[in-house]
Amino acid sequence: MKGRQEDVVILAIETSCDETAAAVVRNGREVLSNIISSQIALHTLYGGVVPEIASRKHIEKINQVIEGALAEAEMALEDMDAIAVTYGPGLVGALLVGVAEAKAIAYAAKKPLIGVHHIEGHINANYIENKDLEPPFLCLVVSGGHTHLVKVADYGVYEILGRTRDDAAGEAFDKVARAIGLGYPGGPKIERAAKEGNPDAIPFPKGKIAGHPYDFSFSGVKSAVLNYINGCHMKNLPIVEADIAASFQKAVTDVLIEHAMAAAEESEVKKMAIAGGVAANTALRTGMRAACQEKGIEFYYPSPIFCTDNAAMIGAAAYYEYLSGKQAGWDLNAVPNLKLGCSLEMPAASPLFIQTTNGGCH
Ligand code: KG4
Ligand code: ZN
Repeated sequence: MKGRQEDVVILAIETSCDETAAAVVRNGREVLSNIISSQIALHTLYGGVVPEIASRKHIEKINQVIEGALAEAEMALEDMDAIAVTYGPGLVGALLVGVAEAKAIAYAAKKPLIGVHHIEGHINANYIENKDLEPPFLCLVVSGGHTHLVKVADYGVYEILGRTRDDAAGEAFDKVARAIGLGYPGGPKIERAAKEGNPDAIPFPKGKIAGHPYDFSFSGVKSAVLNYINGCHMKNLPIVEADIAASFQKAVTDVLIEHAMAAAEESEVKKMAIAGGVAANTALRTGMRAACQEKGIEFYYPSPIFCTDNAAMIGAAAYYEYLSGKQAGWDLNAVPNLKLGCSLEMPAASPLFIQTTNGGCH
């Protein structure tokens, strides 16, 4: 393994859902390029991500996205110290495109291969623009598939304090947007509609789990929105989309902030970060900033481009795996339901370019 004094440059690939992405990242925090080819326009036609279409599009785009990332970084494959790829969680067919590509490139170029957990990538996105951020810190991870309150005890060491019991926060945004006819992807569309609405117009419930102050539940608020809309139809009342969007957004962001703050108050760690697609939401960002300020907690957040899926965050997470000597074998596989913390069980390889086990943990 290289010493810490030398630069480590990683080519990272991300294809877990509907973005085909590649990035070149130096020393985990310096993004030399970050190319994202979004399929959103295509999936919008179907009201959500169609897995088969996602996989096919990844295959069509992946080579040009990688070439674009290397070109923008003004580097060649030979300049890379490792090739990193998201191997889970996500859509299995989509993940497989990135994993197969990364393995082929790493094998042909004789570079170490690093498998990265997608959620670990989201958390590590915070390192990119916050050069001073170091563990331990707390992180609220809110994406389309996950809602976790995590303590980042050290680089690559995660303790899950709370999680959703049903829908993820982003999933709730997407389902409610569909119900009020805003379409896919729901988060940004709800946020836009909410700007014109009154957040106190409709008292939607805040999901709480008795005895588990850091857990979340979003299926109740989603059902409440659907019931409200049905009630309006039955009573021939107007459906004010902006008020529904604003009230729903408030119910979700309030509960996220309350639980995150409760965890921060209990913890000796006074640093809080946010991550994942929903972390791009302005109401959540401003609410968290204000709550952290009030409690004397330092608040960290990535730019919106590093909140939603991207490969720079995978390069950031891969750097710390690289430093700790972890690498994947040529039998690295896609693990659609990979659990957070699993990568800790991945056997370390030393020296780096030696085939070890599958690098996964299924
Ligand atoms: O992290 P991400 O890009 O993909 C997953 O790993 O799931 O998150 C996508 C999710 C979607 O549910 C999307 O609606 C939500 O993040 N999202 C937002 C916003 N931008 C994206 N939710 C609320 N407000 C936003 N501005
Ligand atoms: Zn994601």
